[in-house]
Amino acid sequence: FNTIEDMDLDGKVVLTRVDLNVPVEDGRVTDTTRIDKIVPTVKAIQAKGGIPVLLAHFDRPKGKRVDSMSLKQILPALEAALGQKVAFSDELIGGPAKRVVAGLEKGDVALLENTRFYEGEEKNDRTFAASIAALGGAYINDAFSAAHRAHASTEALAQLLPAGAGLLMEAELTALDAALGDAQRPVMAVVGGAKVSTKLELLTNLLEKVDYLVIGGGMANTFLVAKGVEVGKSLAERDMADTARAIMEKAEKSGCTILLPKDIVVAREFKAGAASEVLPVDDCPADAMILDAGPATVAALGDAMEQCRTLIWNGPLGAFEIEPFDAATNAAAQKAAELTREQRLISVAGGGDTVAALNKAGVAEDFTFISTAGGAFLEWMEGKELPGVVALTKSAQ
Ligand code: 3PG
Repeated sequence: FNTIEDMDLDGKVVLTRVDLNVPVEDGRVTDTTRIDKIVPTVKAIQAKGGIPVLLAHFDRPKGKRVDSMSLKQILPALEAALGQKVAFSDELIGGPAKRVVAGLEKGDVALLENTRFYEGEEKNDRTFAASIAALGGAYINDAFSAAHRAHASTEALAQLLPAGAGLLMEAELTALDAALGDAQRPVMAVVGGAKVSTKLELLTNLLEKVDYLVIGGGMANTFLVAKGVEVGKSLAERDMADTARAIMEKAEKSGCTILLPKDIVVAREFKAGAASEVLPVDDCPADAMILDAGPATVAALGDAMEQCRTLIWNGPLGAFEIEPFDAATNAAAQKAAELTREQRLISVAGGGDTVAALNKAGVAEDFTFISTAGGAFLEWMEGKELPGVVALTKSAQ
């Protein structure tokens, strides 16, 4: 694909797809990570004489105008991050948008209203995309985290204007390639989360690409059930036991070592400060539930991690939102951070919960790369092609 560097943007209005789908409470942005990450792209476009006009979705208004989902509420945080005034159009297309864009000069930047207020967006409608394209002379996609959606502003638009990737898009793709595409081996993947059923494609794809697969969270219980281990009242998908067994057999054939809990942290209640105990993995009482992996598991995971050059992480190891069930996630995160600081490990993590867990552990800064993506990160780990990325590649050909 083309990059900002390759493209002639001088004097052009550059329709720039970004991801401003940030958490908002009472009309205020509570986490500006995604906003902060697009700043270099906006500045790079301006430095090449382009005028960035930002396109983004917010939430899921399903093709209708929903006031509480207006991008206008993001404007103050965006202006603070960019350190300049941002023009806003409460229409994405047509006369009002054209007037706002016509008023811009070099050095300016504008934001147009939520792309998902329009039915054509999620339908990836070409006519709708053409009416957006009419506003500008080039298109930059910097929204890796929305690249799994084949929508007008992420897909069709790339076919209607000279198109390229923004700096964040480039950085995400480079980091992900270093983690799973062209990775230095051995590679360890840590996969956590509640359900095997939602991560089946992910596990299957990883088996062929990684040397160690650490399974944590509720998913691990399903694997334990598959091995005939009693898990008491733990969250587990008993009907997925056969599938879990098939995954373990396949792993053995492809030389991938699956690491499951050796010891467990159990409690009778799932609440902060609940009485908990550490037990060997096959000692879970019938009336208890497994809420975290124990210290022996963390030690084994750490030993394996020391053998690895690359780590890719999606999903916490335990019920990290509630103490003390965040202990295994924190300890594993600290180990990864330490090895990364010593330049022994390339560490890449993504997914909403994972990033929250690493932030909570206070080590996100130490990771080689933290993706801004949730769903897109997962689909990419599943080995799927992302329509937004494919569109950029095609456009360059
Ligand atoms: C995200 O928040 O992961 C992206 O912005 C995509 O949002 P969506 O899941 O509503 O498409």
